[in-house]
Parts: sequence; C-alpha cells; structure tokens
Amino acid sequence: KKRGKGHHSGSASSSYTSSSGTDEENVQGEEQNDYNLLLQNPIDFVKDAVMSGTLDLDKLAEELKNKKELQRKERENKQLNERLSMKQQRASLPIYRHREGLLEAIGKHQVIIVVGETGSGKTTQIPQYLYEAGYNRKTGNEGSDREFMLVGCTQPRRVAAMSVAKRVSDEMDVKLGHEVGYCIRFEDRTNKDTKIKYMTDGMLLREFLREPDLASYSVLMIDEAHERTLQTDVLFGLVKDVARFRSDFKLIISSATLDAQKFSEYFDDAPIYEVPGRRYPVEILYTKQPEGDYVDAAVVTALQIHVTQQLGDILIFLTGQSEIETAASILEDRSRNLGGKIKELIICPIYASLPSNEQAKVFKPTPKNARKIVIATNIAETSLTINGIVYVIDAGFIKQNCYSPKTGVESLVVTPVCKASARQRAGRAGRLCPGKCFRLYTKWSYKHEIEESSIPEIQRTNLGSVVLLLKSLGIDDLINFDYMDPPPSETLIASVQQLYALGALNNLGELTTLGRKMAEFPLDPMLSKSLINSEKYGVSQEVMVIASMLSVNNNIFFYPKKGQNVTVANNAISAFYVTEGDHLTLLNVYSQWKDSNYSTQWCYENFVQPRALNRAKDIMEQLQNLCERVEVALKSNPTDKIQIAKALTSGYFYHTARLQRNGEYKTLKTPIDVDIHPTSSTFKEKPKCVIYYELVMTTKNYMRTVAQIQPEWLVEVAPHYYTQKEIEFGESSKKKLPKIKN
Ligand code: CDP
Ligand code: MG
Repeated sequence: KKRGKGHHSGSASSSYTSSSGTDEENVQGEEQNDYNLLLQNPIDFVKDAVMSGTLDLDKLAEELKNKKELQRKERENKQLNERLSMKQQRASLPIYRHREGLLEAIGKHQVIIVVGETGSGKTTQIPQYLYEAGYNRKTGNEGSDREFMLVGCTQPRRVAAMSVAKRVSDEMDVKLGHEVGYCIRFEDRTNKDTKIKYMTDGMLLREFLREPDLASYSVLMIDEAHERTLQTDVLFGLVKDVARFRSDFKLIISSATLDAQKFSEYFDDAPIYEVPGRRYPVEILYTKQPEGDYVDAAVVTALQIHVTQQLGDILIFLTGQSEIETAASILEDRSRNLGGKIKELIICPIYASLPSNEQAKVFKPTPKNARKIVIATNIAETSLTINGIVYVIDAGFIKQNCYSPKTGVESLVVTPVCKASARQRAGRAGRLCPGKCFRLYTKWSYKHEIEESSIPEIQRTNLGSVVLLLKSLGIDDLINFDYMDPPPSETLIASVQQLYALGALNNLGELTTLGRKMAEFPLDPMLSKSLINSEKYGVSQEVMVIASMLSVNNNIFFYPKKGQNVTVANNAISAFYVTEGDHLTLLNVYSQWKDSNYSTQWCYENFVQPRALNRAKDIMEQLQNLCERVEVALKSNPTDKIQIAKALTSGYFYHTARLQRNGEYKTLKTPIDVDIHPTSSTFKEKPKCVIYYELVMTTKNYMRTVAQIQPEWLVEVAPHYYTQKEIEFGESSKKKLPKIKN
C-alpha cells in the first residue's frame, strides 16, 4: 500500500509503505480478499438468479458459506503443506543426523563446543532439540519463580536474534513471543510461557544484573562465538563462572570457523563436537586493478553476472546502510532502464536497522526465472543464511569500531576484511551448487595486505559500558578477570578514568551511587550520565526525549535520492533545524510530532520516518520506567536551551571540539582534526565550541549529532577533567588525574 502523496520515488518509497501488521491484521486482510474475490466473480448461481428474477437470499448465504468453508480448507491445506515442508527442511539440514549425538554429548558434559559450517542448522535446531529433549522441565525447585526453565541462545546481532526467533517459531508452529521469543535492547518479546529465548549477547550481559546465577536458564548457547564481540567475550568469563557453581547448568559454545581449539582450551578442555556441512567448490575471482569505488564496482559486477551467468541469487557484501541503499537504488534504476531486456531482478537490502517486515523479504524463495540480489553488511557472513545464493560479490571491507586509549577517540572505520571473513563470505556461494565469488580487490592484496584474522573487539573498543557493568556485578579486579584475550591495560585504565570523570567511580575505583544508577540504563555511560544529571538542570523530560531519539538506530529523516522531491525534502527537514544543535533539532521533531497527536500523515508531509519516531516513543516509555526505578524525577523546561545543552555537556564533555583559526575543528583534550557532518544543523553556523555524539571516520573524521556549547561549562560540569586554563587557551595540557586503583 503506497501512500497517495506521491512525493517520493524509486526504491526509497519502500520506507513509506505502511508498517507490518500483526498476525491478526494479516488474517483480516485475507478475509477481505476472499470477500473481494466473491464480489469480482459472482457465483454462477447468483447470475442465473438475477437473470431469472428468482434471487434466493437464503440459498445465496448458503453458497457463500460453502465457498468460504472451501477456501478455509484450502488455506489450512496450504498451511499443512508448508508445515510438512518445514519438517522436511529441518530433516534435510546437515545437523539433523547429529541430533542424538549432540544431545548425548550435552547430557554427558557440562560444556561443549559445537563447530559447524554456516547454514548447517546450529542456531535454529540445537535449541529445538534441547526443547524436545525436555531441557525446559524443572526437576526440583531450582531456579527462578518461572514455571519452566529457559533454553537461551545469544546472538551478536539484533537482526539475527529477531529473524532466527521468527524462523523457529514458524518451524514449531507457535506464535512469536510465546514459546519462542527474543529479547533485544528496548524490545522484549518473551513471556512467562517462553521456553526458547534468543537474545543479543548485550541483553544477556544485562540480565546478570538481575540474575547473577542465570537461575532461569537450564542451557545457554553462546552462538557465533567466532565473532568475538565485546559482549560475547565478557560473557565467556561470566558464564564460565556460572558453570562452576551450578552443576545443573549446561553451556554450549557454537562457532562457524574451525578454530575451536582456543574455545576448548579456555573452557577447561571442553569437548569439541563437529557438524560437517555440505560444501561445493567456489571459484574465486579477483579484480586486476584495485577498485576506486567498490560500491559502483559491486553494482556493475552484479549486472554483469545477471546478463552473462546462469540463474542463481547474488549476495553482495558492503559495509553499511548508506552504501547498501545507494547500491540498491542504482541497481533498481539500471534494471528499470534495461526493462524487458533482462530477466526480473529482485533487490533485497539487509542491515541491522532494516524494519523486520523488509528483512523477511530476503528469506522469501526467488520466483522461477527471476534473480535475487541480496545486499548485506557482514551480517550475512555467518549470522544469517540465505538459501539460493550462487554468486558472492565481496567488496572486501567492513565497518569496525576502533579506539585509541591514548587520545580517547572512538570511531567507526571502514577497514579491509580479514582472510577468515573473506573465506566465510566466499563460502556463502557454495551451499546449493558450485558457486563463484567475485572479490573486488586484487589477488596480490589478498595475499599480502589482508590480515589472517581480525582483532577481537575487546582489544579495539572503549570499555566504559563493560567496566561499569562488571563493577556493578561486584567484579572489582578488572585486570585479572578471566578474559579469553585480555584488553590492553591502557584501555582499561582509560575507561576507569572516564568513569571516574563522569562520577560513576570514586577515586578508590569503587562504584558510586551515581554509577549504580548509570548501570541501570542500557545506554552508553555518557548518555546515562546526561540523562540522570538532567534532573539537576530541570530538563529531564527533554533529555529523555533526546536520549530516545539518539537510541533509534534508523535515520530520523527521509532523504529522497533524486527528483524534485530532494529540494522539497531538504526544505522540510531544514525547517526543523535548531541552530544550537542537532540534539535540540531531534527534540523539536519529536515535540512537533507529539503536537500532531503522533500523526503518521504529519510524518509523511515532513519527511520524517514514522517508524523511527514510533520506536523513539517506545524507547522513551522504557527510559521513563527506568528513571522511576532509579528515582530520577521528570522535570520539564522545553524552552531553556541552555539548561538542556548543559545537561548534555555533563555527560559528553569527553566529546568536545573547538573551532580553530583556520576554520577547522580540533578535539579538545587530545587534538585531532575533525569536521562537522554536512547533515548537522550546525554545519553552516560553525559554533566556536561543540560536543558531539559520535565520530565517524570515512573520508574525513566527521562529528555526528553536534551541539553548540560554551567552553566555560566544561569546567563547571567536569571539574575533575578540565582546568580553567585549558578551556581558555584550548591547550591540550592534561590535568593530572589522581591515581585510581585498577
Ligand atoms: O546457525 P547455522 O548457520 O548453522 O544455521 P541456521 O541459521 O540454523 O540455518 C539453518 C537453515 O534455516 C538454513 O537453511 C537457513 O536458510 C534457514 N533459515 C531460514 O530460512 N530463515 C531464517 N530466518 C533463519 C534460518
Ligand atoms: Mg547460526
């Protein structure tokens, strides 16, 4: 259903389709269709009756009922067939033959490592096998007050958690959110009946705050362990400990790569169970020259495959949403221009913040004579298996976070993939039949420039959130925590110092009351601090809205890619701009939407994404509950921009930059050249001193979501961190920090 407004065009119009319906709505929709069908093809009987003037209404009603009944039966049959085929699909997975073997190994050992080719069925099947084997049953009065024990499975990515839960609920023919559910940040779709729970690793980490012994779980599967995300790495240490003092607790570590020895050693020589997968040979092709623009190269390659190669779906690996959207829209344009000259192309982007009904499109079987092109981030590397892929195009890059404890600068950087990833990517082409992988880089570069494996995230990210969480769990000795690979000690020290500057830790390195409150929020410590502190400035209501808007992963605004709408959109969007900064712009958007009584129509008219705002509203309700819980009073003063900016500064004083004489910005403490992102409302104004929400490194170091501040505030809000002298001269002389334990 497209909106009749007509001010959007091309691929982007999908953002404007009405949101996905609930199950009930879908059923209703079908009923509606039956009815339409009847109206369009009146039964012969009615025709006759009308012609002969003997319309028997009772008989008509009877006929209608019969026809409905017939259609209902047909629908049921279809569902039955689907279920049967679902059963067959389950039985055809490589893991199926290992069902008994796996259950036996799990029965015998407390911890096992499961290794298997991506797509062999680890994520979707193992939790079901455990469920079928009765692992949800309570044997005594152990655990929580739940009636059943949970089988839990963690995923590094929210999209994977959601889509796998959906798939498993379909396979089990139950409603998502009941027997099978998922839990991601700000969205808990589980209930008291839940037996299989998929969740992000970050959410399980937060569960330790409520339930340090994971008493609700009988089995936990830490999936995609090879990804070595920060949260998964910290979980390793915590669950290893749980396994030590809970003999009834089972732990499964599952991984896609064959480097399982390291996991086994870490978990006290746990046995490794291997699930051999099917694999066909994949031919690897390299470019002769390095590619300047890999997005364009990927598009061209995809079209070449489409016109020259046999049918079979294509999977393109790019680094993020904007690249993916660009590639999708170019592909759509070019295939439209080619029109009937080529076979049908179905283009499916997939990335973390894609709405779930759009994600589902990726898994739909490709119609005969058509070709699907999936454009994905590295989410499709191992977390999601899309059937039917025969060709892979690997641009050779990923977006990775990167942190320098010395400068304190944290950023997202586009970096070359490692060899292990490149091999995984190529492997996606060989599940169905022999496939081809087109690497958009040279063979030389693969051999000489690319690392063997990537550095675990724990060694290249800011540890603020994790340190705060561990401290809240009473784990004080951060240096000697049982890490699989320890983080650099400078990073640990820098994180402890940042938490000290934020007031979350005292000078003995102990958690303060403020720190305890901060840990309650599933937000970055800087944002939690701003939110909690905003009460003091009398603007907690406003900062809560801003925090919610910042936590929405999607773009708030809708930018059409081309056509006359571009100008209309730009005007509409810049009408929201508040010169003092993007945080206030976000607040402004939300307030106007609220004034429109949360109207969707208003969103369309103003080039705002209704889905993003609805999500912000959801998040806000949850933040409101958390504020209540930690006793942050909600105060409102929407017109006092200075108090709002000060509250934000009290959390973000680490992210400060100052305008130089040459018209460029430098970060304040440790000078690095940065720029305001062109989409910022402060881009033209160029304020003297700013705080920023995040730094993204692409062609330049861009500060995103920027607010204007007064340098004097820095000393006021962070006397531990800034000296008067520093802010006067913009010098980078560090105030000596007291020595903090740990
Ligand atoms: O975890 P692993 O990579 O071993 O495999 P899996 O994710 O359990 O996938 C097993 C099968 O389920 C694959 O053939 C997937 O294509 C299918 N699947 C699906 O159709 N839809 C999903 N949302 C997830 C998996
Ligand atoms: Mg998996």
